[in-house]
Amino acid sequence: MATGVSGAGARSVERSAFLDACRREAAPHRPIWIMRQAGRYLPEYRALRAKVEFETLTRTAELAAEVTLQPLRRFALDAAILFSDIMTPLQGMGVALTFEPAPVVREPIATLAQVEALPALVPERDVPFVLETIRLVRAGLPRGVPLIGFAGAPFTLMCYLASARPSKEFVAARRLLYAQPLLAEQLLTRLADAMAQYLAAQARAGAQALMLFESWAGLLAPREFARFALPAVRRTVAALRSSGVPLIYYVNQGAALMSEVAQLEVDVVGVDWRLGLSQVRRILGPERAVQGNLDPAALFAPPQAMRQQVDAVLAEAGAAPGHIFNLGHGIWPDTDPDAVARLVDYVHEHP
Ligand code: CP3
Repeated sequence: MATGVSGAGARSVERSAFLDACRREAAPHRPIWIMRQAGRYLPEYRALRAKVEFETLTRTAELAAEVTLQPLRRFALDAAILFSDIMTPLQGMGVALTFEPAPVVREPIATLAQVEALPALVPERDVPFVLETIRLVRAGLPRGVPLIGFAGAPFTLMCYLASARPSKEFVAARRLLYAQPLLAEQLLTRLADAMAQYLAAQARAGAQALMLFESWAGLLAPREFARFALPAVRRTVAALRSSGVPLIYYVNQGAALMSEVAQLEVDVVGVDWRLGLSQVRRILGPERAVQGNLDPAALFAPPQAMRQQVDAVLAEAGAAPGHIFNLGHGIWPDTDPDAVARLVDYVHEHP
């Protein structure tokens, strides 16, 4: 069970604007964290990466914890996110892959025999270093800054698992949905169960919120999203209800899918910048918090113009509690860290 995230007593010692917003409660300031906040735009990350391979970073708890904490030392961010990758638990399940830098699976899944050969995930046995990273990060985080654990959503993982090379189209994975729908459903079910185990173990180790990344949802028509991607996420989410921590579903390029997404019982929906947050909130209704959605490109605007872009996101989000400021997708590797500092400080000026 995570500590310090529920109960009035715990809250008063360890108040967190991020967790307040996840629960749609008024926060002392607008919380902000940044997707991919630990990574290549930070010189200190590049310095470490020059000596150590990415995969080694993810598998060595002391190093993964260090990288997780790097952005927190520079910026007054309201949450940390575990440094790892969505493919890390699949490696733990025996899937051979390399990061080039995007994940490339050695034997893409195309047959029922391959699906059936995928073992269940036992996090304590298969990815103990992830759980150890979480314990180390919790020990090193400032008070009141929670740690977000994460996993890939089943369909997004399937995109990488079924494709020989990641492209922006993922033709092999999408072909499977139409050519072998029952195989696709079985694969998605296995992934849903594995990610439920994975995220529950992260919460037990100390993660105070859990996020599912649906990075490739935008490839699907609403019907296929509703038939394949959504039931799999729903299965993961249902298994995590008892974990007691807020659940976040990030859906990239999901503007056309938002009424389907609204059916998912998560606390927070994260979105990209292609749909304004007022519309997102209208479709999702009052029982979901929202996270987003500044275009990562806006960090390249001159300071005053960037502040206007932030104002526009805040105006769209409206005054109701339950908005976590973020980018609409991961920060670009060539972003100036000073622009991030200006962004965080400016967002914090707002209630
Ligand atoms: O602070 C953080 O958010 C960093 C932790 C993190 C990484 N990957 C580290 C990483 C997280 C949350 C992820 C999630 C992830 N990985 C997603 C979902 C989020 C999204 O961007 O949509 C996806 C689709 C992946 C798959 C993946 N892994 C890609 C496409 C790539 C290469 C390109 C890229 O964006 O960096 C990776 C490798 C990877 N994962 C790197 C990092 C820092 C780069 C590795 C390096 O340093 O060479």
